[in-house]
Amino acid sequence: MFIVLLGPPGAGKGTQAQRLAESTGLLHISTGDMFRENVAAGTELGKLAKTYMDRGDLVPDEVTIKMLLERISRPEASAGAMFDGFPRNVVQAEALDAALAGKDAKIDHALLISVPDEELITRLGGRWICRKCGRLFHERNDPPKQAGVCDECGGELYQREDDRPEVVRNRLEKQKPPAALIDHFRTSGVLTEIDGLQSLDAVTAALEAAIR
Ligand code: AP5
Repeated sequence: MFIVLLGPPGAGKGTQAQRLAESTGLLHISTGDMFRENVAAGTELGKLAKTYMDRGDLVPDEVTIKMLLERISRPEASAGAMFDGFPRNVVQAEALDAALAGKDAKIDHALLISVPDEELITRLGGRWICRKCGRLFHERNDPPKQAGVCDECGGELYQREDDRPEVVRNRLEKQKPPAALIDHFRTSGVLTEIDGLQSLDAVTAALEAAIR
């Protein structure tokens, strides 16, 4: 099964992908995480991606698509995957469709998590992430038991560079799923829209029901 998680920055794609990966066993592929790993490792790809990420802009399609296609060509992605943060536009969606068609596969579900802007700003401003295992927290909505420490692995929690208010403004302006992308999945009959204002558990239940 191949699933796409769509939604604006801060909608809960990463949080829900971590939960669904656990309940379904599906491989979680996050292009944002892949770029951050490259930035941390100081690769050429990371250096290039950082110039866009720091401003809250999308990394160019040719770079992003090449990275993603390499990832899904690996054997561990042959049985299925859940894409978090990809595709962001129709060009990326068509590249993904073509790559999956080459494996006799297709996107089975596109799950759109919708959340209004005011809530997104609060969520991004209060987000904390474990440096070691990547578990996501929110200082008010989903706080760790001990401030600054991951419940899962004891790792140190940090805030993302691109969660600064001025960058968040640009991300919200430029990175909401475009109407043409949503139509792409609606037309192929795989789109389900989920109210992302619900509690974390209610959103997880709605997503699980949609893919059952
Ligand atoms: P990426 O990492 O994908 O960032 P994003 O799309 O902006 O999404 P976020 O990770 O910020 O939010 P999320 O929806 O995952 O929310 P989360 O679960 O963390 O991309 C980063 C950058 O990489 C981009 O800016 C771009 O430059 C580049 N990039 C990536 N993919 C690309 C592509 N395909 N093409 C080009 N460039 C690309 O939740 C947020 C917070 O809210 C958390 O604290 C969480 O605890 C809390 N929360 C979540 N759900 C709930 C809830 N239901 N109730 C209360 N709190 C909640």
